[in-house]
Amino acid sequence: MGNMGKTAIITIGNNKGGVGKSTTAVNLSAGLAREGARVLVIDGDPQANTTSTLLPDLGLRENFSLVKALDDPQGSFTPNVCATRTEHMEIVPNSIRCMEWEVKSYSSMDSVLGFSRLLQNDKELEKYDFVVIDTPPNIGPMLRNALLISDFTIVPVPVGDQYALDGFSTFINVLSQAKQQNKKLLLLGVVLTKLDGRATTHKKNRDKIRAFFDSKGVPVFDAEIKVNIDLDRAHSHRKTIFEFDSTKTGALDYQALAQEVISRVSQIQKAK
Ligand SMILES: Nc1ncnc2c1ncn2[C@@H]1O[C@H](COP(=O)(O)OP(=O)(O)OP(=O)(O)O)[C@@H](O)[C@H]1O
Ligand SMILES: [Mg+2]
Repeated sequence: MGNMGKTAIITIGNNKGGVGKSTTAVNLSAGLAREGARVLVIDGDPQANTTSTLLPDLGLRENFSLVKALDDPQGSFTPNVCATRTEHMEIVPNSIRCMEWEVKSYSSMDSVLGFSRLLQNDKELEKYDFVVIDTPPNIGPMLRNALLISDFTIVPVPVGDQYALDGFSTFINVLSQAKQQNKKLLLLGVVLTKLDGRATTHKKNRDKIRAFFDSKGVPVFDAEIKVNIDLDRAHSHRKTIFEFDSTKTGALDYQALAQEVISRVSQIQKAK
């Protein structure tokens, strides 16, 4: 594929923890790369789970990282890019040191404009078809910064959690605040995660969640991510699901999501 159109920057966000943000950032990105897209993953979470999965040598973070870029007034994303084991997919890693930036940033412009500055300084981001940003489970500076430079956001919502929608209004508030400063920002879709198709409660909850988002006019992807122990195993082996075993349900689900993301994004970009 390559040069699919304008670079699409996508924030994976949900202030709730453990909903599948990092799993989605890793495996959606790998799925996009497998479709031939050039993908840059930016790990915007100081917990750095995505970095642990994708960065072959964690020592590289001494020289290349998001926090290094943010700490440098002339910093930008692409000089901090590292290769992953997946073709067409690169990463700007992160480390726990980024928490210090988060604390410092509250008293400076960087609390919302840090990423915008990095983007402005960046000469090479255009070579990517997709930039996928993973974010932490809070509504702090990382999420706000990421939304301010994004074209789209994708929100993972776990189906088995009866409290899945609690806190969603908080996310929507942050989203509409970001939209006031970044008019192009669109909620590309909610992706249902951790669906156990054999559990009646899950199916009922899924239908309830889909109906809820329908009534709000929020798009939900047709592709659903089922509960799949291999996604968890791949994660603990520090692999994408495709490196772990590309025949598993988790791989098929994330490949389907990647295809749907490509088709939605190109449809929206064409309409512009
Ligand atoms: N579809 C799935 N099936 C089985 N396990 C999953 C699935 N998706 C995610 N997990 C597991 O659930 C846990 C939480 O997932 P993940 O780390 O992606 O969530 P997160 O939203 O990024 O969490 P945090 O808010 O802490 O950053 C991980 O152990 C992950 O391996
Ligand atoms: Mg995470």
